[in-house]
Amino acid sequence: MDENSHALSVLGGLAIGIVGFQFFRTVLPWIYANVVGPKVFGATVKLAEMGEWAVVTGSTDGIGKAYAKELARKGLKLVLISRSLNKLNDVSKEIGDEFGVEVRVIDVDFTGGTEIYEKIREKTTGLDVGVLVNNVGISYSHPEYFLDCYNADPAFLNNIVAANVHSVTHMIALFLPVMIAKRKGVIINLSSTAGVIPNPLLSVYSATKAFVNKFSDDLQTEYKDHGILIQSVQPGFVATNMSKIRKASVFAPSPETYVKSALSTLGIASQTAGYLPHALLQLVIHFTEAVFGDQFARSLVLKNILGTRKRALRRLAKDQ
Ligand SMILES: NC(=O)c1ccc[n+]([C@@H]2O[C@H](COP(=O)([O-])OP(=O)(O)OC[C@H]3O[C@@H](n4cnc5c(N)ncnc54)[C@H](OP(=O)(O)O)[C@@H]3O)[C@@H](O)[C@H]2O)c1
Repeated sequence: MDENSHALSVLGGLAIGIVGFQFFRTVLPWIYANVVGPKVFGATVKLAEMGEWAVVTGSTDGIGKAYAKELARKGLKLVLISRSLNKLNDVSKEIGDEFGVEVRVIDVDFTGGTEIYEKIREKTTGLDVGVLVNNVGISYSHPEYFLDCYNADPAFLNNIVAANVHSVTHMIALFLPVMIAKRKGVIINLSSTAGVIPNPLLSVYSATKAFVNKFSDDLQTEYKDHGILIQSVQPGFVATNMSKIRKASVFAPSPETYVKSALSTLGIASQTAGYLPHALLQLVIHFTEAVFGDQFARSLVLKNILGTRKRALRRLAKDQ
């Protein structure tokens, strides 16, 4: 073997080593978290053994209502928390009749001040809460530049932060002590794929969702040894009022399909897209960033979101 071919074989060996290392470090864990784990070991966390009650915020519609139904199906009693009392009463009756569990409701507006958490505390004192789903969230009506959004309604951006960030921290502060005392409990926080990929023109919304991921991650480390499981769930599009997608599809599933899938990742992944097609979408974007560079990926996303904004503004102009 001459010197050149020796150098080539060393380089080849190195390349195979790097690819192999990356495969074991990233590809295998991804396959376990998104495919093998949920399919083979899914639903290993016995939610009904965490406590008698589950609390779900934003539970009269969409993803929150679907979580409430799945938890009732597992035999948990429910505290549903949302804005509209009429809708809460309707959903409470619907779930109570279908699953035969006790359902209580609390009407609060999560864009309100901290006094709403006193109301929630008063109405839940003494309940053996084992599961908390921080689902409530609000977003822009359509993608918009930050300053246009701010100038149109500065209070709206406050509301997004209150509903998407303050609700999560305050609700966890309310129910974590009960869970720690029992040394068991599950907290599921609804983030979004928007929190893990570039998301211009929805910048405040996506930043609140990035907060949810980071907060959940560090909190999990703090309280893991106390028997608390904390999961941050990052959906892509789901067919709900928020996404304005009426017809479910593979990439925008119904809330019921999404939640069944997300629950199968509990105990397997602490940060998860919750649904294989959404995990693949995140993978494609991260792959594009890694291979073609961050700027290329960002410009692709921006072009796509600008198209969505243009169509939304056209619809708004037509409706006026
Ligand atoms: N849908 C998606 O494509 C998608 C994608 C990624 C992440 N997510 C996240 O998933 C979560 C649920 O979204 P969704 O699509 O299911 O939403 P949705 O269909 O719009 O439902 C929102 C729920 O929250 C309640 N709610 C809204 N504003 C509230 C407020 N100020 N105070 C109290 N309750 C309020 C609503 O109650 P009322 O009916 O009484 O108003 C409703 O029950 C959110 O955190 C969202 O950011 C959604």
